[in-house]
Amino acid sequence: MNESLFIIWGEEDALGIPLIDEQHRGIVSMINTLYYFMKRGDGEREQLRMLEMLEHFFTIHFIVEEELMEAAGYEERKAHAEAHERFLKELRELRASIERFNEPLELLKSLKGWWLDHIKGEDLKYVPSVRKWMEEG
Ligand SMILES: [Fe+2]
Repeated sequence: MNESLFIIWGEEDALGIPLIDEQHRGIVSMINTLYYFMKRGDGEREQLRMLEMLEHFFTIHFIVEEELMEAAGYEERKAHAEAHERFLKELRELRASIERFNEPLELLKSLKGWWLDHIKGEDLKYVPSVRKWMEEG
């Protein structure tokens, strides 16, 4: 297969929190699979199934992140959780645009940008608090 991956993920992308890193890797795998079906230009049913999995897993992933931030007493957790909520809303919009065949690839690209920036920015900020909490516990 001559398709390149939509997101290339490497060791340098790890935050150093094993469970979170595994979840990020799993999400990358799902997004790359969704992209594969979008590029094919068909497989609407598969796209919707992938997106459903993504929505469920993102929800679970955000719950885990928010629990860790809470347990660690991370100060900016409320704003972080609000950013998660906005992202989940956009994921639901992506589903609607797949159903309408309305430029879903453009929306997927913007969600990819948001999520990668979020990991490099907002997620990275909670790492010292969460790691400190983990080392103490
Ligand atoms: Fe996050």
